[in-house]
Amino acid sequence: MSIVITGATGQLGRLVIADLLAAGVPADGITAVARSKEKAADLAAQGIRVLEADYDRPETFEGAFDAADRVLLISASEAGRRIPQHAAVIDAAKAAGVAQLAYTGIFGSPTADFLLAADHQATEQAILDSGLPYTFLRNNWYVEMLTANVGPAIEHGAVVNGVGQDSVIATATRADYAAAAAVAISTDGHLNKAYELSGDHAWTFGEFAAEITKQSGKPVVHKTISHDENVAFLVSVGLPEGFAEVLADVDDAITRGALAGTPGDLSRLIGRPTTPLADSIAAVLA
Ligand SMILES: NC(=O)c1ccc[n+]([C@@H]2O[C@H](COP(=O)([O-])OP(=O)(O)OC[C@H]3O[C@@H](n4cnc5c(N)ncnc54)[C@H](OP(=O)(O)O)[C@@H]3O)[C@@H](O)[C@H]2O)c1
Repeated sequence: MSIVITGATGQLGRLVIADLLAAGVPADGITAVARSKEKAADLAAQGIRVLEADYDRPETFEGAFDAADRVLLISASEAGRRIPQHAAVIDAAKAAGVAQLAYTGIFGSPTADFLLAADHQATEQAILDSGLPYTFLRNNWYVEMLTANVGPAIEHGAVVNGVGQDSVIATATRADYAAAAAVAISTDGHLNKAYELSGDHAWTFGEFAAEITKQSGKPVVHKTISHDENVAFLVSVGLPEGFAEVLADVDDAITRGALAGTPGDLSRLIGRPTTPLADSIAAVLA
């Protein structure tokens, strides 16, 4: 039996592996799937088995898994291309009849009505169709995606996006989501379950701006712009137009409350409160 982690050389995958090792899972009981062995050299040096495979080359996953394996499929990073990429892993997992297939999807997946959710919904359906024991880890937004803009927000005195002034989002840290994935893949009791993973507290972007002001001493406000202004703004800072549309669509969904839920699944899974927003802002300012 091995705990198999795809996307193992990515930021989330590395955190999951560190958590597994910290929880006492032996290194030789972990398989890291990486598309580049060189990139996974540090993992191999710790005694972790490294399997070279690429979501874009399904043949590289053939025979990759054993029936006793618990597989964590970390979603691929290119929205719009992920359905066939994930199918490569799901097909190989089905062929082996793995003991568990866990998947990192999106918060509120079954009813999510924004563009970015489509790949995740199709992947969850493919996993259900496979008949394998599954665990759905439906992650809310990574707070790091937003705190990456703390510097520009201080520079311009504003957090600018398409989210309404009163709308809230329940982000959590990548490390909190990783901790949940490590628990779900290495302990019993998580088969055929879907977890809606979000921070304990939902916040408005006005509160986000106020916290930046408090910690930096520089005045920052939240400014809401229209959908079209948002797309143009995202293109102006260098995003391709198609992806700018996808991100502006997420802001619209946040305004509708799609990422507002705080069901508590994340803190229950990790056995502690989620990391407060103030700590994430402090980490960026440090
Ligand atoms: N909810 C959110 O706010 C949010 C935010 C960002 C991302 N996500 C999702 O969460 C996933 C993990 O996040 P992250 O921060 O760890 O992203 P990341 O650092 O970009 O890691 C993505 C991982 O996927 C691997 N990968 C990409 N394409 C692949 C391919 N064709 N074959 C094999 N492996 C491939 C990458 O391999 P390499 O190391 O070789 O590049 C990397 O290990 C992302 O991929 C994305 O689906 C969610």
